[in-house]
Amino acid sequence: MRFDPADRGLSGSLRVPADKSISHRAALFGAMSSGAVRVRNYLHAADTDSTLAAVQRLGARVEQSAAPSEFTLHGVGLHGAREVDGPIDVGNAGTLMRLLSGWLAAQPAGSWTLDGDDSIRSRPMGRVVEPLRQMGAQIAAREERFAPLTIHGGALHGIAYDSPVASAQVKSCVLIAGMATPEGASVTEPHVSRDHTERMLAGAGVPMERDGARVTVSSVDALELDAVDVPGDLSSAAFFVAAALLVPGARVVLRDVNVNWTRTGFLRIAERMGARIGGELEPLGAFTPGEPLSDLEIAHGPLRGTTVEAEEVPHAIDELPLVALLGSFAEGETIVRGAGELKVKESDRIATVVDGLSGLGAEIEATDDGFVVQGTGGLRGGRIASHGDHRLAMLGAVAGLASHEGVEVEGMEAAAVSYPGFADDLAALLAR
Ligand code: S3P
Repeated sequence: MRFDPADRGLSGSLRVPADKSISHRAALFGAMSSGAVRVRNYLHAADTDSTLAAVQRLGARVEQSAAPSEFTLHGVGLHGAREVDGPIDVGNAGTLMRLLSGWLAAQPAGSWTLDGDDSIRSRPMGRVVEPLRQMGAQIAAREERFAPLTIHGGALHGIAYDSPVASAQVKSCVLIAGMATPEGASVTEPHVSRDHTERMLAGAGVPMERDGARVTVSSVDALELDAVDVPGDLSSAAFFVAAALLVPGARVVLRDVNVNWTRTGFLRIAERMGARIGGELEPLGAFTPGEPLSDLEIAHGPLRGTTVEAEEVPHAIDELPLVALLGSFAEGETIVRGAGELKVKESDRIATVVDGLSGLGAEIEATDDGFVVQGTGGLRGGRIASHGDHRLAMLGAVAGLASHEGVEVEGMEAAAVSYPGFADDLAALLAR
């Protein structure tokens, strides 16, 4: 699909799709609940449809409302996951595979195999297999660290886990398994990762404490989750934030976006680069059971280079490809460090971003744990491949609007993993 320079600007307002991370958790924690859970504004995209299908196979029942994104989930209870014939397919969803592993390992009995697409099969699962085994879980993994995983339910014991990576997926997996143990569990991370699990579990009556980068969960028998209203996804909004910053004359308003401080790192980085973003972001370090929302207003303006350090990385991890793109248009140098985790996302995002943007004319170099971009004031354009990675596909589209010659994105359909209507939403803002 081709994306030409946005000569007539970019303007208007948009409600971006529901948050992917929070939708995964709504389906999973709804399935673990004993009572009915009302879910509003669930994301229907490939990843979160995989989660809804998985929890239904495990015995949860979906009572659909008239609106497609609204339903009531009748869960099976914390210990009630049903056995299934054949593997559970997680598709492209790392969050589903890692969080579900924690729940299934803590079932009193039963065996399940979790598998997914080629990308999932190449992503590290040792990071959840390892702590779950330390808790007493029986798990078989290909080469000890890759999917498919076969998980045998059994009694687990608590853990105080020092995670080597700042990963919400690892943290959530251990907390989910931990709340089903008599002792509970704590997880300490090198830096605080997104905290949607903590907020939703706290809202479901699970005793949850945070002390710096350590989170502790106590033992529970049941979740009491009434309702989840899923806010707009900051990671989807970020593509329009970047587009508005880069396209001359642009001005865009994004409605009801989740501004949980563990997710808004990209906005803080963009502000440091000179962007002016209207909206009320949650203060750093806040911890509430609910999820904060804000409208965001963004207009085109000049940018300067910046440096992103490791502690900021988890709060902007999925948006770092966009930081590289902004860096190309900024004055001076933009450096991202401490972001080795990019190598194990839906694609190796250090390699795919550096190759992809270089092919469009950017001056960008890969480092061991990030990249360095020289601002060149613009981008020529050309072709970029998505490598089946949704965020690469959308990065290419935004690059096209801001480029001199336009960009052809190979594999644009990958966007459907998180944002099936992306190209249409972009076209609507261009047409105004
Ligand atoms: C996610 C956490 C992040 C993020 C992913 C979704 C989540 O991964 O990159 O898109 O929903 O917990 P890690 O926690 O592994 O960094």
